[in-house]
Amino acid sequence: MPNVPSSRALDLLADHLTANARVTVLTGAGVSAASGVPTFRGEEGLWKQHRPEQLATPEAFARDPRLVWEWYDWRRQRIAACRPNKAHEVLAAWSERYTDFTLITQNVDGLHERAGTHNVLRMHGSIWEVACWTRCAGSPLRWRDETVPLPVIPPRCSHCDGLIRPGVVWFGEAIEPGILMRCREATRCDVFLTIGTSAVVNPAASLVQEALERGAYTAEINLEATPASSLVDHALRGPAEIILAAVNERLGRLCGSGGSR
Ligand code: OAD
Repeated sequence: MPNVPSSRALDLLADHLTANARVTVLTGAGVSAASGVPTFRGEEGLWKQHRPEQLATPEAFARDPRLVWEWYDWRRQRIAACRPNKAHEVLAAWSERYTDFTLITQNVDGLHERAGTHNVLRMHGSIWEVACWTRCAGSPLRWRDETVPLPVIPPRCSHCDGLIRPGVVWFGEAIEPGILMRCREATRCDVFLTIGTSAVVNPAASLVQEALERGAYTAEINLEATPASSLVDHALRGPAEIILAAVNERLGRLCGSGGSR
């Protein structure tokens, strides 16, 4: 049985999630771990086997597009076989429950959307989108492609016959300014939760500090301590899928007992 926070700790978080609360959630690879999607850091993480600069930079793609695409094709196949877990489901339910709810994710797997979550801001793009590497005039900026496995690696643009790249944000690339602006705006909230992220990659990692400065109640849900743990009001140690389910169950009870939620 995994470690889970005390009943009191779960109550405390539930107490802040009042009916009219403006809620913003930042997620990372840990929310998809129970679905079978590998995380990046840690013993089993993707960056144990590969160096980010060999696979997740524009330079790596320019050097060896086949290698980069083989890795993304493998990840796409793996993710395609995964289903949203309880953590995705609870967050999707909260996106209906709260009028002012924003889900900021660093994940490219699309599992929040598949769970039915509204108002998702994808900071690092989507593994299910692609773009023309040369941004040729004939092709859209980005488009969806869910083919798994890809029939030809590396895939080619049907307009210019140049290379197609994954629609994700690589190290050294800027986050789309419009998305980043909306993420920053969403730190103006009552409750800010950082869930299943190692909180080491900026600008995502800096959002919790912004939320704090704007007076939000902040909490972290993670299996282990991260740089965000010492900043937040409340750090809950344990699996996101179990903690979120337990907090959600409390919200349901409070609602049923005629509380204000
Ligand atoms: P990481 O792999 O860095 O961190 C995953 C975090 O999830 C760790 O802190 C784990 O302790 C935690 N975790 C694992 N399983 C969990 C569970 N069941 N419940 C709760 N927590 C759990 O992933 P990210 O923080 O998402 O960027 O990584 C951020 C960015 O770095 C990624 O978007 C990616 C990566 O390099 C790019 O590729 C640009």
